[in-house]
Parts: sequence; C-alpha cells; structure tokens
Amino acid sequence: MKIGILTSGGDCPGLNAVIRGVVLKGSTSYDLEFVGIRDGWRGVVEGDFMPLTRHEVKGLSKVGGTILGTSRTNPYEGERGGAENIAKTLYGHKIDGIIAIGGEGTLAAADRLSKDGIKVLGVPKTIDNDLRATDYSFGFDTAVNIATDAMDRLRTTGDSHQRCMVAEVMGRHVGWIALHAGIAAGAHVICIPEVPMSIDEIAAQVASAHDRGRAPLVVVSEGFTLEGMDEAYSDKGLDAFNRPRLGGIGDQLAPMIEKITGVETRATILGHIQRGGSPSAFDRVLATRLGLHAADAIVDGAWGQMVAMKGTDIVRVPFEEALGELNTVPRYRYDEAAALFG
Ligand code: F6P
Repeated sequence: MKIGILTSGGDCPGLNAVIRGVVLKGSTSYDLEFVGIRDGWRGVVEGDFMPLTRHEVKGLSKVGGTILGTSRTNPYEGERGGAENIAKTLYGHKIDGIIAIGGEGTLAAADRLSKDGIKVLGVPKTIDNDLRATDYSFGFDTAVNIATDAMDRLRTTGDSHQRCMVAEVMGRHVGWIALHAGIAAGAHVICIPEVPMSIDEIAAQVASAHDRGRAPLVVVSEGFTLEGMDEAYSDKGLDAFNRPRLGGIGDQLAPMIEKITGVETRATILGHIQRGGSPSAFDRVLATRLGLHAADAIVDGAWGQMVAMKGTDIVRVPFEEALGELNTVPRYRYDEAAALFG
C-alpha cells in the first residue's frame, strides 16, 4: 500500500517527529510505502510529491518545522481542487490514502474529503492546544517552555529597573499557553480570552505586586480583548492617535498599565519564536507516538478517523471530535492560577 503524508496549516515543533514515526513503523513493521506531499493540500491538488523513505526521516525527531513544507491551501478550491480531481491525481500516482497532519482547518478538509470517498487519516496539530479531540497536542509543550524561558528573562529586566513587564504569547482563541507559561514563570496577572478583565482589574494586580516590592509580570494571550478598549484609552487620558495600532494587545495594555499605576511598563510580543526550533522532549515523544499509532491505524483500515491523546494513551477518534467547539480553559483552571496572584 502506498500512503501520502502531508502537513498543513501553521508549522509546529513535532511535525517531523510524526512523519518519522509513521515512516519507520510503516515501512519496517508493515511494508508500507510512503510518499511526501509538498506544502499541504496544495501538493495533493497539484500532484507535487517527494520521496519519503527511512533515509529521508533519519534524525528528524529533533528537527523543528516540517520537511514537507506547509500551506493553508483549501483542497476544494481552484480548478484542480475538489474530491473528484484529487481522487484522479492520487490514482494516477498509485497513492492509496493520505495522512493529514494539521489543525482544525486541515482536519475539517480531511473530514469532508473522507466523506467524499478519499481515504484520509488525521493527526491533530496545534501549539494552542485548542482541539477538543486530544488532551494535549504536540507543539504546545514546546511553546510553553519557550514562553516560560522568555518570561524568566524579562523578569531580569523588570527586577533591575523596577518595571512591569508584559509578555504577549500566542493563542488566538484560547489561553492555554498564557495559563501554563504564566503559572510556570510566576506571573502576577494572566489575561486570557476566556476570562473577561477590565484594565482597572489588571492595573490593580500590577499595583499590588509593585507595592509588595515585586517587578510585576503580566502574560497576555494574543486573543485577549479588553471590554471597551477605546473607552478605556480615552478614560485614562491617552491619545487615541498615539495608541499603538500595529502592535498586539500587549502593546496596547502597556501604556494603560503605566498610566494608571505609574509603574514604568514595557511589552514584548513573543510571536513565532514560540513555534520555532526544536521540539521539547515531551513533544518529540507525543508526536512520535502519534506517528507510530497512525501507521497501525492505516493497516487496520481506520480511515476517516484521527489518532489523539486521551490521558496517557493514544486512541482513535472521528474527525468530528476535532471540529466545532474549541478546547477552552475551564474557569476552575484559571482560578487555580489566580490563587497565586497574591
Ligand atoms: O494556531 C497556531 C498559531 O500559532 C496561533 O497561535 C497564531 O495566532 C497563528 O497560528 C499565527 O498564524 P500565522 O503563522 O499564519 O501568522
């Protein structure tokens, strides 16, 4: 049997470890043949493939990014898109099925193709940890480690200058990275999309940390929004035209915090550094296990499903579980962290 593997959506530490796990197990235990699909669904639509043998995956578990390349192409768009065309392309290259490694968008496309008769198996990926179908997704632990290290470093400047340091981390819709990195780094304020907070509440926590002689550390998810942001700006006497329009929420909070508390404040946006470089040991193990189990699932003919982590086990779940509602931070998890704010 010949299987195509693709990575789609944002890159993520651990993608290469999944590819290695699938290829090693599939070729040694089951005699499966593999082909790499370049740049996600674009490679399927355009028939852009590359060799993928044990040789190509050598030493890959520690390598960040994806050797296959990635894109956000929708396989149903374009002249050569759509299930019928894709089926023809796969047939022409004697490819029996696809392993699609990606986030919500990728898995939604995989689900649709699968219902349209293409054999697809999914592997969930997101550094945000926002997919319901899996307890942890690879890439998340690496992102948390990077964000924690960055905040430890920001604290050095905060302590030396008696400044408030604001760290903006990734998380478009959910606050898992901010929550975990915030606990690990001992942040005094954690702002996440799931928990509404006003600028006055944030400033009060900053002022309280400052009054206790601490250099306040604030971590904010990129998806966090202050209710009444514009009003909050003008209420605090800040000129709307001076408001940093191009920066993220961290850049927007910093001048307000400084204005209200009088504590000099600086913001840092960590951005794509959180997705870069080598995966953590935890992510290498998780990604490798998902790859090994994906090879088993192919041999069992478990198409239309994805492999996922439940507890400490790798299980198979239908695509639907990865779609729709996101895995948001429950209130009790936020309250655990809030007990540390002082
Ligand atoms: O979903 C993962 C993620 O890294 C988000 O945290 C972030 O908002 C987004 O991708 C950034 O996407 P891009 O790399 O396309 O700018």
